Amino acid sequence: MHDGSERNANRIAIRDMQIDDANAIFCIIRDIYKEDKTPFFFDSMPDENEIEGLLATKLELSREGKCIDLVACDGQRVVGEAELVLKEEKWYIGMFVDKAVRRLGIGTSLLNELAKRAAKLGIANVYAEVIKSNEIAISFFEHNNFEECAVQGGKSVLLKKL
Ligand SMILES: CC(C)(COP(=O)(O)OP(=O)(O)OC[C@H]1O[C@@H](n2cnc3c(N)ncnc32)[C@H](O)[C@@H]1OP(=O)(O)O)[C@@H](O)C(=O)NCCC(=O)NCCS
Repeated sequence: MHDGSERNANRIAIRDMQIDDANAIFCIIRDIYKEDKTPFFFDSMPDENEIEGLLATKLELSREGKCIDLVACDGQRVVGEAELVLKEEKWYIGMFVDKAVRRLGIGTSLLNELAKRAAKLGIANVYAEVIKSNEIAISFFEHNNFEECAVQGGKSVLLKKL
């Protein structure tokens, strides 16, 4: 089945996030916020220290078995990040890809690797919470076999992996 990920299979490597990725991740998020004010993770643009603090927290959660955090790399360059975090007994995905390399299957590759890791940990149900106006993300998750299962507080939708 064509899922988009093979377009980059030879070029993109997926690995665990490291604290040294903070600057690259900050730059990707800054570029997203420059053109698109629709928030996806943050209410406003975080600075580099906040990103580093957030990554440190996620690494700590990973050690406690409450988070999986992956980055996609094109050579040495980080081009995307995907997290799976346990919040109130549900596992939530959050992710983004550098604007310059979207629609090449990188998001799908990240999602597929996250799903493999989740399966190994015995995680049965995975969710994504997306702001209603973020039609691209909704299309992306639906393309990857997520189905809308609830509307949260009128402004975001909850999607569940089938
Ligand atoms: C959502 C996001 C991660 C997708 O990453 P990506 O690498 O571009 O995704 P893929 O190339 O794997 O796309 C897979 C499929 O998703 C759908 N899709 C992706 N981008 C789309 C777009 N702009 N418009 C419509 N459908 C789209 C398509 O079905 C696509 O398959 P196709 O290219 O064969 O038609 C990326 O757009 C992004 O970083 N958005 C900003 C952050 C965000 O909203 N994150 C999600 C909420 S946590």
